[in-house]
Order: sequence, then C-alpha cells, then structure tokens
Amino acid sequence: MNDLGLSPLKQAADWQPDSWKSKRITQQAVYPDAGLLTQTLDKLSVLPPLVTSWEVNNLRQQIAEAQQGKRFILQGGDCAETFADCTPTIITNRLKVLLQMSLVLLHGLHKPVTRIGRFAGQYAKPRSSDTESRDGVTLASYRGDLVNSPEFTPEARNPDPKRLLQAHNHSALTINFVRALVDGGFADLHHPEYWDLSWVEHSQLADEFRRLAESIGNSLHFVEAISGRAAGSLKRADFYTSHEALHLQYETALTRQVPNAEGFYNLSTHFPWIGMRTAAMDMAHIEFFRGIQNPIGIKIGPGMDNQWLQELLQTLNPDKEAGRIVLIHRMGVDHIEEHLPPLIETVQSLKTPVLWMADPMHGNTETVANGVKTRRFRKIRGEVKKAVKIHQEMGTYLGGVHLELTGENVTECTGGARDLTEADLARAYTTTVDPRLNYEQALELAMQIVSIESSSQDRS
Ligand code: PEP
Ligand code: CO
Repeated sequence: MNDLGLSPLKQAADWQPDSWKSKRITQQAVYPDAGLLTQTLDKLSVLPPLVTSWEVNNLRQQIAEAQQGKRFILQGGDCAETFADCTPTIITNRLKVLLQMSLVLLHGLHKPVTRIGRFAGQYAKPRSSDTESRDGVTLASYRGDLVNSPEFTPEARNPDPKRLLQAHNHSALTINFVRALVDGGFADLHHPEYWDLSWVEHSQLADEFRRLAESIGNSLHFVEAISGRAAGSLKRADFYTSHEALHLQYETALTRQVPNAEGFYNLSTHFPWIGMRTAAMDMAHIEFFRGIQNPIGIKIGPGMDNQWLQELLQTLNPDKEAGRIVLIHRMGVDHIEEHLPPLIETVQSLKTPVLWMADPMHGNTETVANGVKTRRFRKIRGEVKKAVKIHQEMGTYLGGVHLELTGENVTECTGGARDLTEADLARAYTTTVDPRLNYEQALELAMQIVSIESSSQDRS
C-alpha cells in the first residue's frame, strides 16, 4: 500500500522501460542522424523529470474516486500544443478557462472536480499518413513539435532530435508557470463577475446559465464571508498534466524508478494516454504502458470490439486495480448508441474498475470547404448528452469529459451561443491539427453539461 491506500501495480518480471523495442511499432519519427538521437536521449534521461511519483499516485487516487462516482474529471487543452504557444498569455488563458469550467462543474454536479490539462507535453501527434503531398512534392507529415515543424519545406519536416530537449524545456516552463499561478494569485478567477459571460445572452438557455453563474457567485461570497478569506486561497487548485504518450523514445527517457516507491513511473506527465492507432495487442505501445505505475487513458472509437477491449484491460490492468484505467470513448454523435453499450457490457462482465470518460470531439470532426477541419458545437453537446443517457441506463457513470479547447477567441468549431458559421472559420483559425472550442464555447459546454446532468437526474 502507498500512503493513499492504493497498492502499487505489480511489476511484471519481463518488463523494462525499453522492452517495447522488440515489438512492432508505428507512428514514430525516422531520424536521419541516429547518433545525435542517441546522444539527445542520453541527455534527456538524466534531466529532472516533469512530475513526481506522489502527484501521480494522488491522481490515481482521484481517478479511483471518480470510478466510484464520487468525483468528476475535466481533461482539456490543445489538440497539438506548440512551442510557439508557450507564452504567458496563452498558458494563463487556457488555465483560466479550465478553472472556470471546473467551478461550473463542481457547483452544478455537486462533486469535486479534478482538472487535467492536455498540456506541458502534448507535442506528439499520430497521423493518418507518413507523408503529405502538395503540388507534386511529397514530404514527411508533421508529427507534432516534438518531432518536426508544420511548414511545408524539407528542412521543417525533417525530424530533429534537438526537439526532444526543447519539448522537455517547454513542458518544464509550462508546468512551472502553471504551478506558480495556481499557488499564487489565481483567486479572482473564481468569481463569475470577472468572467466574460457576454455570450450567455445569445444562448437559448440564457436564463438557466445566468442563474447558474449567479448561484456560483453567491456560494463563493458565502464561503468567503464565513471563512474571512478569498475562496481561491481556500484550497490549492490542483492541475494535473496529460498527453498522448506516442513517442516512445522520449517517454522511455523520462520513465524512472524513484526512492521509496515500487515500480517505474512515467514522469513525463501524470496521465499518459494511448490512442487506438497504436493500441493493437502486439504493439510496442501496449508493452510500454503495461509496465508503468501511472493511471492511463485508452481512447476507444467505433473500431473497438469486445475481444480487443477485454485483452487491453487484462494486459494493462491484470489485477483489476482501482484508479488505473480511464476509457475515453470517442464514438461520434451518430455512432455512440450502436458502439458504446456492448463495450460497457464487456467491462461489466469482467468486473474490472474503469472510469468512463467522453471525448465528444474526435468522432465529430468534419472537413468543409478548402479542406478546413471543423466540429459543430451541437454535435459535441449531442455526444455528451447521449453518453450521459447511455451510462445512466446501463448503471454506469460518466465520470469525465476530454475536450480540445483553448482560452483564446479562435474560430475553429462552428455553433455555440454566438452561432459561429463556416464563414467565421477564416477569421481566427490557428490550430495546427484539430479544431478547438474557444473560450466562450468551452465555458458554454461546461454549463451545458450541468444542464444535461440535471435534466437526466430529474428523469431518473
Ligand atoms: C487526440 O486526442 O488529439 C487524438 C488524436 O485523438 P484520437 O486518437 O482519439 O483520434
Ligand atoms: Co485532436
């Protein structure tokens, strides 16, 4: 048992941080300079880690609570974090929207909310093709700032090992600033009177949302009146980090043993997740994830079947430990009713603890004019609504959401209270990969989730 009451996961005798090297692997960069890659990984493997094992254990405990329906998890951030966006304004705005959303959820769901950012390391992206062609020229695909750069030139697309150290640096800068903001003066952001709520008037649920914001404000004033302190300083607002642990050489260099704890921790992030593209049972990524102590996310889409899910759970959590597995379903609003229930039945028959989390973004991506990728707010909301209903009907609990969002006023997803149209997409479209909810749409979605949950409670 560790000090939280959870047992460390049993370490398989045949596992090592690099035992994945004997397995089939996809979605990796091919580095032209193998010597420089080795030197860089050696350097990375002696640098301080980005998170600690205590924090990882704490998060596992919180996920265990969420698995029991006692907590909700909000996971959000960029699709692809970039080095250029490692700026104080962008980091602060992203933290602000996540914090404000979490207060809406806390207040509306009457449960503690754990905040996990898709940040401080979300620099590697899986791609549908290894190459990209434009006007007869073919270059390596952009694989995230950890690997190469998005401009369409041979130099930019060349995988560069130096980026591994830059990613570690930028992650460290981000996490350092996040911790300082959270520990320091973030209290003002608790108060809805400081939030930008001008969009609320444009919503069909304006009255409900206005009442929600007022009631959050009143509760905070009440807490402050009785405690004599600003609500923001009452309790440290924890933030955990997450990313897709795709680049296994990078992840291995940060996977360590620490004094007084059993096993190996991936200390590049608190909560690594595995995408379905790299989750076949004979693949390197499954081997890597099998041996780390962290709680792990597994993305499951319409292509997941019962047998595969069963094997994933048996391999990644053979002892059915609490707090270990988060299943992040990303089915699409038109497919969730067909694909999710059989998978829930599979998990129920295994009697293994999982946290069910909805990613309503990745199954609802559309390509519109000029090849621009977008997502409609209505579909995103629709998938969350269906997910809540399915879990309620099957006796399981939707314990979290996984969102792509930013604190900036981008125009990448259509719809929402201001009803952004396809024509608006040209105005402020800055993502390098997938379209994100902007500040207003993200806050609106948090309020919509509260509204969906409270009407589903009324029905039950
Ligand atoms: C992502 O989360 O950015 C992503 C690539 O998701 P998925 O693997 O679910 O498509
Ligand atoms: Co994405």
